[in-house]
Amino acid sequence: MLKGKHIILGVTGGIAAYKSAILTRLLVKAGAEVQVIMTPAAKQFVAPLTFSTLSGKPVISEFFTANTGQWNSHVDLGLWADAMIIAPATASTIGKMANGVADNMLVTTYLSAKAPVFVAPAMDLDMMAHPSTRRNLELLKSYGNHIIEPAEGELASHLVGKGRMEEPEKIVQVLSNFFVPKDLAGKKVIITAGPTYEKIDPVRFIGNYSTGKMGYALADEAARRGASVTVVSGPVAVKPQDSDIKIIPVQTARQMLEAAQTVFADTDIAIMCAAVADYAPDHYTDSKIKREKDEIPVIHLVKNPDIAATLGREKQPGQFLVGFALETDSEQSNAREKMHRKNLDMIVLNSLRDKGAGFGTDTNKVTIFTGEGMSVTYDLKSKPQVASDIFDSIVRCLK
Ligand code: PMT
Repeated sequence: MLKGKHIILGVTGGIAAYKSAILTRLLVKAGAEVQVIMTPAAKQFVAPLTFSTLSGKPVISEFFTANTGQWNSHVDLGLWADAMIIAPATASTIGKMANGVADNMLVTTYLSAKAPVFVAPAMDLDMMAHPSTRRNLELLKSYGNHIIEPAEGELASHLVGKGRMEEPEKIVQVLSNFFVPKDLAGKKVIITAGPTYEKIDPVRFIGNYSTGKMGYALADEAARRGASVTVVSGPVAVKPQDSDIKIIPVQTARQMLEAAQTVFADTDIAIMCAAVADYAPDHYTDSKIKREKDEIPVIHLVKNPDIAATLGREKQPGQFLVGFALETDSEQSNAREKMHRKNLDMIVLNSLRDKGAGFGTDTNKVTIFTGEGMSVTYDLKSKPQVASDIFDSIVRCLK
């Protein structure tokens, strides 16, 4: 998303300036053209040579380049940029930006910039919590600037609290999310994710190896594209990147069905990515089943409801229902059969015979089948990239 984008990186005078060297490196690696502007104080922390080497462009700091007398036009720079990020942003620079104190090249360029502005504050916890800083940040928000809130942790003062500049990887993520086309804006998306646990007794359950990585990657991608997202999630350790994603935690297939049905009526797109246990014990033993000497306990199973098929029956015109098929053999025919039997509009096949695909991995290899009889097979990709391919297909179908 950052390929070819013009980014102004404003670096101000704080110890977190060293992290901005890494940020420059990551932005350049992502394909962005980076112009660094440093405040005079920033140069006390990191040498401009570091940034000019990493960005491949001379650093701008003053209104005039001393040895040539060349005027650095803040207006041209402001127009050149697709985005401006100030990281780290000190309390002093935030105050100047909020109040239009244009006494250095960075703030002057900020006032001229037409592009979206991102601000990553970094300062000591008491400065961060001060009403003056909070008020100035609120002012920046009211100008439409995006604040990348600092993280909590140990600060340069060795005090612990909120004030650490967000990690460069996270900042790059925020920036690239911003440039994702918002082709799902106004859409409501529900995703089932992770495994279900069917309880046998207080210490045992029937489950499977699903980690939720695929389902949560879908949720993050939908949110990036502007959708309002709900995940009905079995027990997993993964978390969504976007705090606006609503998570409904469940344990069993029946709970997953109930939660999915409640949300589905008001949903545009539903993706059934959960690995739902097909069977559950017919009863729950409320004390631990003891290891008997001679007798081996027998667990009777009952069939769980099929969530995808139930939603397929309840589907109304205009709703788009996607299933997954996890197969080990006769993959293509099984996937097509599931798509038709469950009344799905699309099914995503992943086969456990493909290395790096399916449960637990950070990658997946899928074939996407649509109701029109089309299918596209993709290479092995990261789960976030697979999620992007899936939503590209959905958006194409919706068109
Ligand atoms: O979570 P990860 O570790 O990242 O792994 C991802 C995944 C392998 C779990 C995911 O990519 C995947 O394939 N999910 C579907 C697994 C599955 O249960 O497949 P299935 O072929 O058994 O089921 C077909 C479809 O019916 C699926 O959409 C499934 O969610 C749904 N189903 C199945 C049974 C059931 N009782 N209710 C259902 O809704």
